[in-house]
Amino acid sequence: MPTREVHATEGIAWLEAQRFGPEVAVVTSMPDSSEIPSLGFAGWRQWFIDTSALICRQLSDEGVAIFYQTDVKLDGRWVDKSFLVSLGAEQAGSSCLWHKVICRAPAGIITFGRPAYAHLLCFSRTKRLEKGQSFADVLPRLGEMTWARAMGLEACEAIAQFLVKHTATKTVVDPFCGVGTMLAVANQHGLDAVGVELSAKRAEKARNLVLRPTV
Ligand SMILES: C[S@@+](CC[C@H](N)C(=O)[O-])C[C@H]1O[C@@H](n2cnc3c(N)ncnc32)[C@H](O)[C@@H]1O
Repeated sequence: MPTREVHATEGIAWLEAQRFGPEVAVVTSMPDSSEIPSLGFAGWRQWFIDTSALICRQLSDEGVAIFYQTDVKLDGRWVDKSFLVSLGAEQAGSSCLWHKVICRAPAGIITFGRPAYAHLLCFSRTKRLEKGQSFADVLPRLGEMTWARAMGLEACEAIAQFLVKHTATKTVVDPFCGVGTMLAVANQHGLDAVGVELSAKRAEKARNLVLRPTV
């Protein structure tokens, strides 16, 4: 049986104490500026870049980091989180293996405050992918969300399938795990899961989240 361990603690301090082996992949959705208002926008922007760099640095050379992020608009300015994550990954010496978009609304629908897509980006220092390891760049749906800030289940499924088929991953780490959506999907795919979450209430949910079996 795959295992699940969730630490109710601060993610950055926890990450700084880790050095992951080749069996670990990090899959996460880092908090938005609205979740850390004490930093202000400029402080959050730097925190976001530094945290993506830290995640990439703590991985082994062949390890992969996968980020699921949705852009926001603040004071009429678009905040492209894929750009910020990429800046951090570059600082850590990691390259982008793929960048996908997941539709949050069907193509052709007009949105304003938030985009009709979320980003999914995968980075590694030395791993490279063959042609046959490719999968769709535009994923049609997020899938069901366990809460407002959750990763969509169909996106988590696509990530878990990629990790199982094309990487040496045995354990998925999510340092900002929320209620544990990615941890639960990883377990469904036979992968061990380790989560970190500042909110004790969400951490408890993450320990116990059970998803309907996939067909
Ligand atoms: C975008 S949500 C992640 C949602 C998660 N993927 C899910 O499906 O439930 C970001 C999470 O990071 C947590 N968080 C914010 N700052 C944190 C920190 N410094 N350390 C650990 N967790 C933190 C928030 O409480 C929130 O649950």
